Amino acid sequence: MLPLIILTHRFLLFLSNSISSEHGFMIPKTVLVTGGAGYIGSHTVLHLLLAGFKTVVIDNLHNSSQTSILRVKKLAGEFGNNLSFHKADLSDRDVLEQIFVSTKFDAVIHFAGLKAVGESVRRPLLYYNNNLSGAITLLEVMAAHGCKKLVFSSSATVYGWPKEAPCKEEFHLSAVNPYGRTKLIIEEICRDVCSSEQEWKIILLRYFNPVGAHPSGYIGEDPQGVPNNLMPFVQQVAVGKRPALTVFGNDYNTTDGTAVRDYIHVADLADGHVAALLKLDESNTGCEVYNLGSGKGTSVLEMVRAFEQASGKKIPLVIAGRRPGDAEIVYASTEKAERELKWKAKYGIDEMCRDQWNWASKNPYGYGSQEDSTD
Ligand code: NAD
Ligand code: WQD
Repeated sequence: MLPLIILTHRFLLFLSNSISSEHGFMIPKTVLVTGGAGYIGSHTVLHLLLAGFKTVVIDNLHNSSQTSILRVKKLAGEFGNNLSFHKADLSDRDVLEQIFVSTKFDAVIHFAGLKAVGESVRRPLLYYNNNLSGAITLLEVMAAHGCKKLVFSSSATVYGWPKEAPCKEEFHLSAVNPYGRTKLIIEEICRDVCSSEQEWKIILLRYFNPVGAHPSGYIGEDPQGVPNNLMPFVQQVAVGKRPALTVFGNDYNTTDGTAVRDYIHVADLADGHVAALLKLDESNTGCEVYNLGSGKGTSVLEMVRAFEQASGKKIPLVIAGRRPGDAEIVYASTEKAERELKWKAKYGIDEMCRDQWNWASKNPYGYGSQEDSTD
């Protein structure tokens, strides 16, 4: 009975994500995913495939491995045949042109970008060049080929140091580092592009703090070098790669003194992108922005405890001063996404930590850990 229900569900998804060809056949919608080999991109590509979309990925593999693409293909089963990959940089306009000439895309999801806040402070021009020129080249090539539907990966970082929580989409925006400024500028570019021509439909998704991995433990986050973010660091302590977690500040005005964030399971984020693509098909969408968060605030210590519980590993802590630039409490208002995208996060921090640990314990050295040569 269960396989029949799953098959029926998949068939219905295929129908809703397909268009009728001139001969009356249903053909799947095709999406270009930039940065699709990366952490959020790979999970989203899997969800797109399972929802019946044809998916083409372009990624320069600067911060990812092609193994993620091979594993997504496997996880997607028979839908894996609907995935193709191009190793290329977005600044390579000729390659982008060729991709758009060979395939007619219904929409693009633009993940590709550099994302390390500290590095962006040290190397601002690298960030402005990669993130801004990548987005502009992409928009230009899309326009030239009549593809005017885009979902863009923005970030809660555009709220700067929010005066209150939860953060609502209409809050004042500001950037507190070059990385954040690239997100803010690309958001503004998208708003201008939509105002210039009614045909454009763009959804800006502001992610809060993505964590976790696919429940199979087969794909997950594989940061290069020392992780900037909390949970990849915790994960590396748990597998013995680093001796202790440094907690940045325990004197905040929060329940346990550590800073509060909105952690969201990467699988929920991936679903948010499928919901955004469906929203782009509505006629009255111009440029819209949605928070993708759980709507709940969790402190650093609460997150560490949840991970200890899930992994059975003790995470040694070193308490240090506040990290410059960190806000005290940041979490999302999720009302707009719930109302207009019909999307809501399903998973809590226990599931995030369970799945992150499952990935970490099976792949202690990320995609370089095991069986990759056989993939
Ligand atoms: P990621 O680094 O894992 O993925 C980004 C991918 O883009 C990588 O595979 C990288 O190789 C590729 N890439 C970068 N520049 C490129 C270029 N010029 N041409 C082609 N490929 C390029 O990062 P992620 O965590 O999956 O983030 C995806 C997007 O979401 C990014 O734009 C990021 O800024 C944004 N975001 C991430 C977070 C987070 O905490 N992970 C939060 C908010 C927003
Ligand atoms: C979370 C909390 C740290 C590491 C960043 C970007 C943001 C977005 C998400 C991309 C904070 C504390 C962390 C550590 C710690 N990314 N911490 N020890 O700063 O909320 O947001 O990632 O768009 O733009 O700024 O996330 O995971 O770095 O930190 O105590 O080793 O964990 O101080 O309170 P953040 P984070």
